[in-house]
Amino acid sequence: MDLEIKDLAVKVNGKEVVKGVSLRIKPGELHVVMGPNGSGKTTLAKAIMGHPQLETASGDILADGKSILGLKANERAKMGIFLQFQNPVEIEGLGLLNFLNTARGAVSDEPLQYREFMNDIKSASKSLALKEELIGRSLNHGFSGGEKKKVEILQMHVLKPKIAILDEPDSGLDIDAVRVVAENVERMRKEYNMGMLVITHYSRILEYMGSTLLHVMKDGRIVREGGRELLEEIEKAGYSDA
Ligand SMILES: Nc1ncnc2c1ncn2[C@@H]1O[C@H](COP(=O)(O)OP(=O)(O)O)[C@@H](O)[C@H]1O
Ligand SMILES: [Mg+2]
Repeated sequence: MDLEIKDLAVKVNGKEVVKGVSLRIKPGELHVVMGPNGSGKTTLAKAIMGHPQLETASGDILADGKSILGLKANERAKMGIFLQFQNPVEIEGLGLLNFLNTARGAVSDEPLQYREFMNDIKSASKSLALKEELIGRSLNHGFSGGEKKKVEILQMHVLKPKIAILDEPDSGLDIDAVRVVAENVERMRKEYNMGMLVITHYSRILEYMGSTLLHVMKDGRIVREGGRELLEEIEKAGYSDA
């Protein structure tokens, strides 16, 4: 999917938080958004997914040239857009397996045999180094921060989206987990030619990922764009000069 964000402005509770962002993600491309806390990164991610609390003030979001602004989040998911939440929710009583199966059924019309589905989940859990017993438990209930983030990536394995937006997939993870998550995400990007938007504060995760198109967001706007050299500059100097 070719996802184009055109001069997008987004309001939260009447306040403009994203103030005219343009960004185009083509199939297979990895885009990275960095920037200080409160600059509107999560709001941008939620706006792409169609979060109901947000109001698009101006601009457009096009998928393969067609506006998706009128579509609800579940409709966008069905088109192949996926958002990994910065703070995944815990739902006691909703089995993880049940949740994954329902999510899959909601975005795909293709029937999948239970055995196939289970095999898919088992191999993905293994490559994520997620304890297999977790898939028999309630969604994220009592899971560690790292396990919750991995469950989001497990969900991505199951849904196989065309565009994946990952909101801080590496925050709260130990060094090994960052590598495991990055390798899984990167494998999917290549295998399915997924477009990706990764929001992060750390360059470490990018060490395991392919060539990078970096966008620096500050106070609702993209203020700098570049490649590895910009990443190094930010690592050294922070965002003050960005
Ligand atoms: N539901 C909300 N109600 C009020 N203000 C919000 C809400 N969500 C986000 N904001 C505000 O919007 C700004 C951007 O937030 P956010 O998109 O989460 O930034 P980032 O992800 O870059 O840290 C912040 O000032 C935040 O307080
Ligand atoms: Mg955020």
